[in-house]
Amino acid sequence: MKATTRLAAVISLASLFPLAALAADSKGSIEVTHWWTSAGESAAMDVLRNQVKADGFTWKDNAVAGGGGAAAMTVLKTRAVSGNPPGAAQIKGPDIQDWGQLGLLTEDGLDDVAKSEGWDKLLSPTVAKIVQYDGHYVAVPFNIHRVNWLWINPEAFKKAGIAKAPTTLDELFAAADKLKAAGIIPIAHGDQPWQNSTVFEDIVLAVMGPEGYNKAFVQLDQKTLTGADMAKSFAALKKLTGYMDPNRGPQDWNQATAQVIQGKAGMQAMGDWAKSEWSNAKKVAGKDYQCVPFPGTAGSYTYNVDSLAMFKVKDEGTVAAQKDVAKIALGTHFQTVFNQNKGSIPVRNDIDMKQFDECAQASAKDFAEASKGDGAQPSMAHNMATNLAVQGAVFDTVNAFISDKNADPAKAAQQLGAAIKAAQ
Ligand code: GAL
Repeated sequence: MKATTRLAAVISLASLFPLAALAADSKGSIEVTHWWTSAGESAAMDVLRNQVKADGFTWKDNAVAGGGGAAAMTVLKTRAVSGNPPGAAQIKGPDIQDWGQLGLLTEDGLDDVAKSEGWDKLLSPTVAKIVQYDGHYVAVPFNIHRVNWLWINPEAFKKAGIAKAPTTLDELFAAADKLKAAGIIPIAHGDQPWQNSTVFEDIVLAVMGPEGYNKAFVQLDQKTLTGADMAKSFAALKKLTGYMDPNRGPQDWNQATAQVIQGKAGMQAMGDWAKSEWSNAKKVAGKDYQCVPFPGTAGSYTYNVDSLAMFKVKDEGTVAAQKDVAKIALGTHFQTVFNQNKGSIPVRNDIDMKQFDECAQASAKDFAEASKGDGAQPSMAHNMATNLAVQGAVFDTVNAFISDKNADPAKAAQQLGAAIKAAQ
């Protein structure tokens, strides 16, 4: 048989046996778009994949590599435009509202699960609001990540003669100087837009505190965006990037984490998904590595809630699989094991944190404390504070600033204000 004839035969056979039918005893199939591809995050996702399969459903993995999810979002948009969305996709924060407004998400598909599992009681009102559209649950939340962390290799600190973890920006720069003098890369980093803006939002939080951060990235207040403290934040960003490997390029966040794990670098400013890589490398929190709030931000907590949104689909098997995923994801077992692997803390409020390491315990305690006042703020770099257009304006301004060695901090603040105005 000629190759083309063979292909045609395969296609016509395949059309006789659509995917759901091929998996003979499957109760239904669900395709899931996500970006959890690092070794540690993939291990966390295995907990869900395995349980969905054990429940008798077929899991179609649509993993799109790329930290922060920009590449996954591009794939998702293309799929949605062509009328072929997956059953579930990693969509977060205000973006969920945008997808809901387009009429593409499930309308009441998760309400029965939410009711029977008591989601209203298990979730904080902040989180419940994020994953609802028009009064209905349209997404299932997985976790709470803290973004404003600094990860430290204590061996590297010891070699460089640094006595304690930095607690202010000045102490951070002083520690970085010592690491540099000892021949160790002070700060591991990859120049991807979302990584640059993750560090930038940490700095803004350190310089302006949670109220200033809120004015800048939640209220999008022009005075704050273009003001003296924003210029100061850009100046601190410039100083900090001077401590990063000049040959770093756009490496992935987990490659940067690996540099700290191996002791090639001393620190990384990254959210606590970085811990998934430390755990995966069998390193122990408090012994092999240290987690501290990003210097100058203790008492504040930039949160990042991961969630899987469910699309409106006709296939009954897929609808059943969506409910199954939602039920598993907020279940006690999954909330414990997944978050132990992922580095985040449970989104359910009734999980015993004694089963978690000291970084997760600190995170839970700090979140509770910060939530009493203004300390808990949504992460801009991780889609929690603004829509993607405004976030894109910040990313572009920060990238342009970092790549131009002569860029002026005061001018960058003006540019940030203008770029955000244009994106609103
Ligand atoms: C975040 C996401 C995290 C982690 C990180 C790095 O946006 O919420 O779970 O995956 O990106 O890719």
